[in-house]
Formats: sequence, C-alpha cells, structure tokens
Amino acid sequence: MTLTATGLSAVRSGRTILHPTSLRIEPRGRIGLVGSSGSGKSTLGHALIDDLRAQGRCVAHVPQSPDEALDPLRSMAFHWSEAEIALGLAPGSADQAGLFQALSIEGGDLRKRPWGWSRGMLQRFVIAMALIGNPDLIVLDEPTSALDPVVAAATMELLSTFLKGKTAAMILITHDLGLAARRVDTLMVMEAGRLVEQGPTEDMLERPTTQAARSLSAHRNWMALPC
Ligand SMILES: Nc1ncnc2c1ncn2[C@@H]1O[C@H](COP(=O)(O)OP(=O)(O)OP(=O)(O)O)[C@@H](O)[C@H]1O
Ligand SMILES: [Mg+2]
Repeated sequence: MTLTATGLSAVRSGRTILHPTSLRIEPRGRIGLVGSSGSGKSTLGHALIDDLRAQGRCVAHVPQSPDEALDPLRSMAFHWSEAEIALGLAPGSADQAGLFQALSIEGGDLRKRPWGWSRGMLQRFVIAMALIGNPDLIVLDEPTSALDPVVAAATMELLSTFLKGKTAAMILITHDLGLAARRVDTLMVMEAGRLVEQGPTEDMLERPTTQAARSLSAHRNWMALPC
C-alpha cells in the first residue's frame, strides 16, 4: 500500500526546522534522504514516523547508534521481548531464529547486556527488532555511522537481501551519498528544513540541479567506499 503524509512540519524554540513537506512512498520504495548536517533529515524522519503511525501504519525506526535503542542495564532478551510486547505480540512469538539468521546474528548470548556484544552485532540486533512487526516502512537514521566501513557494508547488504522478498519500503537517512547511492532508487535532498530536490538516484548523481545536491554529489571519493 502506498504511504502518504502531507504537511509535515516542526517548530522548535520558535524556529521552523521543518517547513511543510509532503511525501509519497510506494511499496518496496528505496529512498535515500540526504543533506548536510542540520538540514532537517532526522526531524522529517520523526515527523513522518509519527504521522504514519497515527494513520495506523506499522513503521519501524533504526537510530544512528545501538546505544540509543538499547538500555545498558537490560539484557538482550529483555529488549527483544519488550519489542514484541510493544507490537502487541506475545513474548517469544516473533520469528527470532529467522531474523537472526537473515541478519547474521550468531553466537550472541541473549542473557548478556548490550556491552557484552560487538557494536556491529548490536546494530544488526536493533535492525532485527525493527523488522519483528513486518513493517510497511523501515526508517534507518544513519544506521551504520557507528560501525567500521566493512561491518557497515555487510549490515546494509544483509538488510537489502532480507527486504528483497518483502513489500516494506525503506528510507535511508544519511549525509553519505556513497552509502545511499548503492542502496536506493530515489534520492531526496534536504536543505534548511526543506526538501529541495528529489528524483531517481542516477539522475540526481549525474545532473543535480540545486546547490545542495551538487555539493553532495561533488564528493565522488565517498562513492569509492565499500559501504
Ligand atoms: N529540539 C530541538 N530544539 C531546537 N532545535 C532543534 C531541535 N531538534 C533539532 N533542532 C535543529 O533543527 C535542525 C535540523 O535538525 P536535524 O537533527 O533534523 O538535522 P539532521 O539533518 O538530521 O542533522 P544530522 O545529519 O547532524 O543528524 C538543526 O539545525 C537542529 O539544530
Ligand atoms: Mg540526523
């Protein structure tokens, strides 16, 4: 089902940090939301998630760092069952084995607290938790910036493979055009709280029209990174 949100906006401390913005996301859509730091990407992501959830859609969110998603005082098993409960599922009813296999989560002791796991495995666990409810949309906000490039690339590859058979759409928020270019078919560029340009990834990379998109695509060296 196509997801639509209209007139998303945000004002903080009297300042408009997100000007009215409307989005339309097709099933299986792969969207990269890019822009410089402070351009409003996360704000738009949060506003979109709130709006779609209010419409009754299942939307998952993966934050930048597993530290934001996991409580250091709670076991990994606790986090997993809390995620199930939050989605209205009985504890233990999600296909944990399938999701762990898809995201290559092996050998992690669920009785341990987050600091007992590697960061790469923690972030894959957070992504697996996000996928529990078969979301219509998964919003990943700088999901790999706390990981080294090789682990980051492997994580994105596992997620892409998992999503191939699903109707879920994905929004990848990043200021790394190299990361986005490999993973998305549409790019949306933000600047100063506005979506200033959007279109097919290839077109945006080859023929950016706004200054914001030109500055991002000028960083060709990022494209050489493995993630
Ligand atoms: N709670 C807040 N109060 C005041 N200003 C805020 C608040 N949250 C965000 N902002 C401001 O809104 C702007 C957009 O912030 P946002 O976090 O959405 O940017 P971003 O594009 O995600 O940046 P980054 O790439 O650094 O994550 C920034 O200038 C930020 O300082
Ligand atoms: Mg952000």
